[in-house]
Amino acid sequence: MNPVTRGQKDMNNDIIIEAWNTVLFDKYLRFKHLFVEGLSAHSNQVLGRQGYRPGIKVLDVGCGFGDSTISIAKLIGADGKAIGVDCAERFITSSKEDAAAAGIDNTEFQVADVAVDDLGGPYDEAFSRFGTMFFNMPGLAMKNIRKSLKPSARFTQVVWRKREDNPWLHDAEMCVKEIVPVISHDETDAVHCGPGPFSMAGPDMVSDMLLSTGYENVNFERFDCDICIGRDIDEAVEFAMAYGPAGEIIRLAEDEGERLKPTVMKALHKVFEKYVGGEGRIWAPSSAWIISAYNPS
Ligand SMILES: C[S@@+](CC[C@H](N)C(=O)[O-])C[C@H]1O[C@@H](n2cnc3c(N)ncnc32)[C@H](O)[C@@H]1O
Repeated sequence: MNPVTRGQKDMNNDIIIEAWNTVLFDKYLRFKHLFVEGLSAHSNQVLGRQGYRPGIKVLDVGCGFGDSTISIAKLIGADGKAIGVDCAERFITSSKEDAAAAGIDNTEFQVADVAVDDLGGPYDEAFSRFGTMFFNMPGLAMKNIRKSLKPSARFTQVVWRKREDNPWLHDAEMCVKEIVPVISHDETDAVHCGPGPFSMAGPDMVSDMLLSTGYENVNFERFDCDICIGRDIDEAVEFAMAYGPAGEIIRLAEDEGERLKPTVMKALHKVFEKYVGGEGRIWAPSSAWIISAYNPS
């Protein structure tokens, strides 16, 4: 991909797509076991009760490693089709490999920017686990997803609730901010992840956006659970320094972020000590919205 200049960067998704295909993919790959096992509590909760019928066609938005797409494929049987889309080619390649290795052949994976690309369809259902919070142009994306749905079809998305109820991200961010200078997206040419994990946390803003992009019957359900953020405290600290707002502050601070890493590590150990559970694993509280909205009939 060509480098994107600062003047262009808010006009399209190039910066974000480049970020997900490079630095962010590498970080996610390093902690894949935490994403796939830790976050599956949320998708298992939702998918287990969606009532997906055998034979239907389901779109998985921002599918990442495609583990949720594979779970959907198992629910809808051989006559159904689960289609995972992601803007980052490397996630799609990885999803295809994992589905093939698991012998699942009713999945399909496509590189697509959900804000602007043709998503195929028409789909009976759309689903997204933590895939919609990073959209640079969320209104366009919501509209485009709705257009790919059949009449009366449902879009279910899982997104993080407010930061204070997700201390594994928020406390880490606060801790890092005390130590590392914060560089905003506007002050750097470095690629970045887009709006961030809490961009969909406000039900008023999100329900207005869904209604204004043509959905109806918008519903929010709170879902809280503890998630495993490390097999030991060192891994939880490494994870926090790589992922989420804390990781982004360190990365965007470049040399200064690198220089301050030992101080940050010490401080994060203190933050996570209280979450040490059985077998030394780190279990932290988390809180999400399960949002459902329907395409009109
Ligand atoms: C936090 S990850 C979640 C991945 C996966 N759903 C999971 O739960 O592990 C967000 C994903 O959304 C994708 N994404 C971000 N913006 C996108 C866009 N405009 N179109 C398609 N995918 C996008 C990213 O590449 C990334 O894989």
